[in-house]
Amino acid sequence: MKICTMIDEMRAASRALRSQRGRLGFVPTMGALHEGHLSLVRAAKASCDTVAASIFVNPKQFGPNEDFGTYPRAFEHDRALLQNEGVDLLFAPPVEEMYPPGAVTWVTVEELSDKLDGRSRPGHFRGVTTAVSKLFHIVEPDAAFFGQKDAAQVAILRRMVRDLNFPVEIVVCPIVREPDGLAMSSRNAYLDSQQRRRALVLHRALMKVKKLAEQGERNVTRLLAIAREELASEPLVRLDYLEIVDPDSLDAVEEISKRALLVVAAFVGTTRLIDNIVLP
Ligand code: PAJ
Repeated sequence: MKICTMIDEMRAASRALRSQRGRLGFVPTMGALHEGHLSLVRAAKASCDTVAASIFVNPKQFGPNEDFGTYPRAFEHDRALLQNEGVDLLFAPPVEEMYPPGAVTWVTVEELSDKLDGRSRPGHFRGVTTAVSKLFHIVEPDAAFFGQKDAAQVAILRRMVRDLNFPVEIVVCPIVREPDGLAMSSRNAYLDSQQRRRALVLHRALMKVKKLAEQGERNVTRLLAIAREELASEPLVRLDYLEIVDPDSLDAVEEISKRALLVVAAFVGTTRLIDNIVLP
């Protein structure tokens, strides 16, 4: 696995790989890798001739009071995991390489970026779309792989790629969970064992609603009430949002008539967790 830290070097390596070996898949990450990230790498390996990944803890997507400084960093471990999965090329730039002094240009997907996580984390999504645009220009992949775990991020990146005609196919992979149902996340490392147990209420609430929806319940108010009741059983889990939304517009739906997403975000202590499920 070749590792590049500079943009010119990465672009040259990735162009060479693509012209010699065909379809290039790309998995952008912020590191602290777990099975969720590795599932994206495996999906990329399965449908592409070569795979590039990136590790970049992107300061522009963290708010001033968020966890940029303490976000888990484990480069050596991550490098070994990616190498073991057969990744061909890894881009791990320093912050100054991605954002040199005077960088003032942003890519913003308007409206969508103010919904769900964007509402509670102002500026978060423009940080994501700016970084991912830059990574797409640097890596020039044929396909890029993202997790359904970050459902709003997926909707926003799909819209960005469509609106700005990026020649990149966006592939979305299912949420990978711990055996007890907790969605894998680099931020789970912040949870102590009691918080870890409390956090399971998110998955329990989603599963209750899923079951009811499968039994034919279509009324959004009733479905949300069931989820809220379950979440209330853990008073130390503080709800940020709980909504049933259209997966493309991220707008709340009134009735479940087509594919809808139940999305939740909550704080366990100071750790903010998100999860979602597709409702039938
Ligand atoms: P990060 O949180 O590191 O996640 C990288 C990718 O892994 C994202 O596409 C995310 O949705 C996916 N992922 C995380 N947990 C997952 C899980 N349990 N199951 C399946 N996929 C999972 O998302 C980001 O980084 C950044 O915003 C980034 C896109 C890299 C831009 O900076």
